[in-house]
Amino acid sequence: MSAILDAPVLPTYLKGRDFLNFLEYSPEELQELLTLAAQLKQLKRSKTPHKLLEGRSVAMYFEKPSNRTRVSFEVGIFDLGAHPFMLRKEEINLGVRETIADTARTLARYVDCVMIRTFAHQDVEELAQWSDVPIINGLTDDYHPCQVLADLLTVQEKFGNLKGRKLTYVGDGNNMAHSLMLGCAMVGMDVTIASPSGYQPQPEITKKAQELGAVSGATVVISDDVKSAVKNASAVYTDVWASMGQEAEAEARKKVFREYQVNAENMALALPEAIVLHCLPAHRGEEITAEVLEKHADIIFEQAENRLHAQKAVLAAIIK
Ligand code: CP
Ligand code: NVA
Repeated sequence: MSAILDAPVLPTYLKGRDFLNFLEYSPEELQELLTLAAQLKQLKRSKTPHKLLEGRSVAMYFEKPSNRTRVSFEVGIFDLGAHPFMLRKEEINLGVRETIADTARTLARYVDCVMIRTFAHQDVEELAQWSDVPIINGLTDDYHPCQVLADLLTVQEKFGNLKGRKLTYVGDGNNMAHSLMLGCAMVGMDVTIASPSGYQPQPEITKKAQELGAVSGATVVISDDVKSAVKNASAVYTDVWASMGQEAEAEARKKVFREYQVNAENMALALPEAIVLHCLPAHRGEEITAEVLEKHADIIFEQAENRLHAQKAVLAAIIK
């Protein structure tokens, strides 16, 4: 067996850490997770067993729908030899049936990690504050770090590096925009967010990303002009105009975001080798045209696959 297919050596200093919004990790630690993800991808592809978490249990709790997060976590936890199981909102009803502190302290007596997808990021922070086992953020209204870890892995695989490249995100200044700004700034990728006025990223998160960029040498720019934003981009990224929980605003948002679309005309302004990324689910004819999505489908579904490998890296690194 080649050296690359040996079981990876897990860094012990990440054990017990939460994975909430990247800010609990240094740029070097983030890079370490990407390296581990690439190793785990090789093991999976070669069907080499890598049961690094034998005997552990991981609970998954969802208050919003999911395909990628649900399935990739369940398969990933199983690949690592641990036991995945779902907790439904009707069962836990976080913060309603009992306090978040009591839910956290109880679950930590049974399981080795909790992955949660919910609305308020503050609830996840509170769960983490009271939990003795690591908490993984599987998406909140403010952040989606698991997705961005997979996105960085995808860009790194495609181009061989991250530092010095530019990623442009077109659309709502939402959880994806926030996590992309933080993740890109940490690894030294320039990032431009093109969003309409009133829908731009939260200023305090932009400020944090700019501080991280000042250290890594990356620029973090917020713009309302798609055409200038996509210039020189190696990766053009988009996400739905109305996120989960904003269904009532969907029609109104279609008007506001009409110009904020990844289409052939805008892609012609990016670098010739530019890739298109989409966290999915996609709404063809809204944030992306069917033509552009299908042209870049290979990388978009590679990106979806990379959720599995990236999250396995997080699980293997942080679970004790
Ligand atoms: N991208 C993503 O998180 O997809 P799901 O909502 O299907 O999990
Ligand atoms: N911004 C989207 C991301 C989906 C993965 C949402 O929160 O619905």
